[in-house]
Amino acid sequence: MTYETIEVRPLTPTVGAEIHGVNLAEPMGNHQFTEVHDALMRHEVIFFRDQEMTLDQHKDFGRRFGELHIHPFRPGPEGHPEILRIHTDANSTQIAGEAWHSDVSCDPEPPLGSILHLHTVPEEGGDTLFASMSAAYDALSEPMKAFLGGLTAIHDGTRNYRDRSRRDGREDTKVYPRAEHPVIRTHPVTGKKVIFVNPVFTMRLKDMPRDESDAILEFLYRHNAKSQFQARFRWRANSVAFWDNRSVQHLAMWDYYPNVRSGNRVTIQGDRPF
Ligand code: SIN
Repeated sequence: MTYETIEVRPLTPTVGAEIHGVNLAEPMGNHQFTEVHDALMRHEVIFFRDQEMTLDQHKDFGRRFGELHIHPFRPGPEGHPEILRIHTDANSTQIAGEAWHSDVSCDPEPPLGSILHLHTVPEEGGDTLFASMSAAYDALSEPMKAFLGGLTAIHDGTRNYRDRSRRDGREDTKVYPRAEHPVIRTHPVTGKKVIFVNPVFTMRLKDMPRDESDAILEFLYRHNAKSQFQARFRWRANSVAFWDNRSVQHLAMWDYYPNVRSGNRVTIQGDRPF
């Protein structure tokens, strides 16, 4: 693919690319928007460097791709409900995204994508890993693809979010979103098949005894986490990562305690998986 308004430097042949020649703080023309969107579809997660953005500029960039999502567990600060603060310091008991997941896959219409801007990063560590779930699907045998293609998974946010509240010392009786999704979804833009189960939100496979469901999910979690499907992003201050939740999963490393890592995420609403 050739681009006229941006430079695209792939991180790996499979997933991830750095995009240069864009200022996310400024309104983006239609041609450049199309090229950034094309790069996201091709590489599934894209990265930008040296971007200083206000919360409003961050939200404006996200809105080019769709309506913004309000997080069911942690709505944003006053005046910015669509902002999800990502902040870790010496007082933190946990971080966001320590296990492989696709954001809020428990929503009936899970997010299209997420845009994370970190303004403060540790000198070492704090990388984010991304894994291509289309590459993971492609690597399965044909009989396994056919078998998984008929399965449905139950996703539920309650276990994860209540557990996060408990680890912060808060009692939480709220009921969070729950939904049924195909185990193999079709990406609505690229048409690629994608594995869509993750250990944070997927509770079990529908219409299956618990032991069968556990064994299949366990196989898929091990398969999805194979290193050949992954790219690892090394942050610098004012880097931005924009991932397509429909085609990648991600995991944030917490190897920098007690140092500070801080920024903001906007999340773009998606549609019902098919
Ligand atoms: C997340 O949005 O899951 C957190 C990702 C990160 O902090 O790198």
